[in-house]
Amino acid sequence: MCGIVGYTGSEQAAPFLLAGLAALEYRGYDSAGIEVLSPDGGLHGVKCAGRVATLQERCATANLVGTSGIAHTRWATHGAPSDKNAHPHLDCSGRIAIVHNGIIENYRQLREQLLTAGHEFASDTDSEVVAHLVEDSLNGPAHGDLLEAVRIACGRLQGSWALAVISADNPGQIVVARRRSPLVIARTGDGAYAASDVTALAGKASTVIQLEDGQVARMDKDGSVRVISHDGTLVSRPATYKIDWDASAATLGGYPDFMAKEIAEQPEALERLLADRLGSDGIRLDELDMTAEEAATIDRVYVVACGTSYHVGLITRTAIETWAKVPVVVETASEFIYHDVLVTDHTLCVIITQSGETADTLAAGRKMHDLGAKVLAITNVVGCTAARESDGVLYIQAGPEVCVCSTKAYTAQMVAAFLLALYLAHRKGELDNIQVAEKYQELRELPDIIREVLKRSWQDRVAASEFEGAYSSLFIGRGVNATTAAEGALKLKEISYLHAESYAAGEMKHGPIALLEPGYPVVAVVPRDHWHDKTVSNIEEVIARGATCIAVATDGDADVAALCNRVLWVPPVEDEILEPVVTVVHLQMLARYVALDRGCDVDKPRNLAKSVTVE
Ligand code: M6R
Repeated sequence: MCGIVGYTGSEQAAPFLLAGLAALEYRGYDSAGIEVLSPDGGLHGVKCAGRVATLQERCATANLVGTSGIAHTRWATHGAPSDKNAHPHLDCSGRIAIVHNGIIENYRQLREQLLTAGHEFASDTDSEVVAHLVEDSLNGPAHGDLLEAVRIACGRLQGSWALAVISADNPGQIVVARRRSPLVIARTGDGAYAASDVTALAGKASTVIQLEDGQVARMDKDGSVRVISHDGTLVSRPATYKIDWDASAATLGGYPDFMAKEIAEQPEALERLLADRLGSDGIRLDELDMTAEEAATIDRVYVVACGTSYHVGLITRTAIETWAKVPVVVETASEFIYHDVLVTDHTLCVIITQSGETADTLAAGRKMHDLGAKVLAITNVVGCTAARESDGVLYIQAGPEVCVCSTKAYTAQMVAAFLLALYLAHRKGELDNIQVAEKYQELRELPDIIREVLKRSWQDRVAASEFEGAYSSLFIGRGVNATTAAEGALKLKEISYLHAESYAAGEMKHGPIALLEPGYPVVAVVPRDHWHDKTVSNIEEVIARGATCIAVATDGDADVAALCNRVLWVPPVEDEILEPVVTVVHLQMLARYVALDRGCDVDKPRNLAKSVTVE
């Protein structure tokens, strides 16, 4: 979703701001803009609908000179993606510019009040009210103090925001603020930087200040930063985090796209996560901040997440219920936040979120925290909001995931969930030391099995041709691989724009079978597990109707080979609960090839955002 960058210092601002926007492109956006304070004492900017590359082209002739500026990529919520709705937005005088990520929920009332007071609006956005509120407070109660003006303006806002504000009358300063939308600040020798996430700051700084909810900060061109809380008190020691990703981790490194790179990175990501996790007393998850006693008494688990992370939640349920024998409820966060839940003194809530900034998932975690549950985050981004707001955190250590479509985070989150399930099972006495060690060994074998699957990408390349001319497709599987089918369908539709529906294979006869006709592509996930023969029967039903079946099957499965049009082969996996970590890799590669065949940009699918920071 929207990306913010800001800089004030001794260097020219525009080059960093444009590079920073390019680094944040992965968050998803539909327009972009930049505003720089020039030596003539005025603000000068460019903004347009479309790509950062278009903005860069326009900036090339705009002569944006100046050492302080702010910039933005916008993912439209209020108002169509257009030049006029792109940020930055200006106040009436054109001397204050703001960029905003989030939603101002009371913008209608504020806009009415501001219009009545004589302000003029130039856009249809909720964000523009902020520029006018800052104008009022800067000229009124803040007496020209930009930090105070933004603090006062924020006091009138409801909703969520990360803001960066620049004023021609406060040269050398940028003021930033946040509530429920991420923002980080870096102090360096050449000035101060702000960004929605550290991806834009890689190579610039090794530690960042992570603004907390309600805080407002002034960055000065000498690199100093003053942070205050919503009531104006000085925050003497703002929270800082070390950036553990180097700049090269977020570059293509010779791959044609980030999706290809991130699919290929899965074995190493899992090895990092799994390293040194077995101690003399079972699985080592020191970062959970949970005593053995607490773990032993957990009597129910809620797992809440969105999208791909929700699919991880479904697998988590099977692992915890099977190994630890604790009942688990799994739900999408956007639904979970609206109904009652049963929380006991021993309830654990696990929120799963790659970005750690998904608004619905954060809201679910807060709800459970308020109800007294212990909240554990499984996330990828160090210092993210989910990590900071939870009682414990398990970092999946997958490295930056730039492609909007989640791949390596999916498999790493699953493996993190397996570690958690083993940890609970051991603490609850359901698995003994030896059984835990055996399962851990099976987990350690997964990276090499994935390496073998990656070598077989040619099978996906060939199978992708079965989707040529298709208008829709069906993904089926049973048990944990019904979830793999769901994840495969999500991958396909989000990057190729080809409709894909997933269904538990046994449910196909209750409706989706009506879709089948000659040539209709059906992907069946059917490894050798205890559901295998039942799923093979479903494949028979598919074939009987002339549909095209592409199976993901275990090496040597003659029944599947005889029936299906194409087979994507996987090596055997000992425990069928772990199988989804392997089977999904084919579906990631298949989706990518289908999308490429259809001419799609696999890294930046339309309408989608990497970090969904609005509810
Ligand atoms: O960062 P999160 O894991 O919380 O993101 C949740 C979803 O938005 C995300 O998984 C989305 O479904 C992906 N684009 C799927 O590839």
